[in-house]
Amino acid sequence: MAMALNPDKQALAQAEIDRVVGTERLPVIADRKNLPYLSAVIKETMRWYPVLPLSIARLTAEDDTYKGYFIPKGTIITPNVWSIAFEANEKYDPKAFIPERFLDPNDTTPDPATWAFGFGRRICPGKALAENSLMALISGILAAFDILPPAEGVVEQNFELGLVR
Ligand code: HEM
Repeated sequence: MAMALNPDKQALAQAEIDRVVGTERLPVIADRKNLPYLSAVIKETMRWYPVLPLSIARLTAEDDTYKGYFIPKGTIITPNVWSIAFEANEKYDPKAFIPERFLDPNDTTPDPATWAFGFGRRICPGKALAENSLMALISGILAAFDILPPAEGVVEQNFELGLVR
């Protein structure tokens, strides 16, 4: 959906793949380090519509104090990663799909790798597999296909809201 809604970003990612990988083979995971724009597209895809917008809840094991707030032992904490993803940003509209934000050394948008997979000891154990799989899948699709809106009609940005999406 992000690609169909943002054909200019799709074209930039495809041009990078053609330039770096060529057209004689499909991209592989090892190409990732040479595909910074594609990596930014993947980060932006994860940021733009977080799969788990409220991550997974936690229970405090001890009394704690955070920024002046006393949090008693046994409190359920909901990590609001949606608010991290959509933090106000004067340069790059958080609601817009702009991979370039992740290539801008002066931008402060947090990398989804630091919040999309949870936190601490129960962080997603599939993180590395997931990141490499996204790279293999998305690069292969973009190398071989154009993702286009239907010939008649427009793309609706109609993800369902929910705890998982
Ligand atoms: C883009 C893909 C994925 C995302 C965004 C994702 C995200 C998450 C998140 C947010 C959690 C909760 C972590 C926490 O409690 O802080 C989690 C847990 C988990 N994930 Fe993933 N995950 C992804 C892919 C995968 C894959 C590919 C696997 C396995 C091959 C996997 C296996 C697990 C398991 C087993 C847990 C439970 C860990 C525990 O509670 O100890 N995930 N994931």
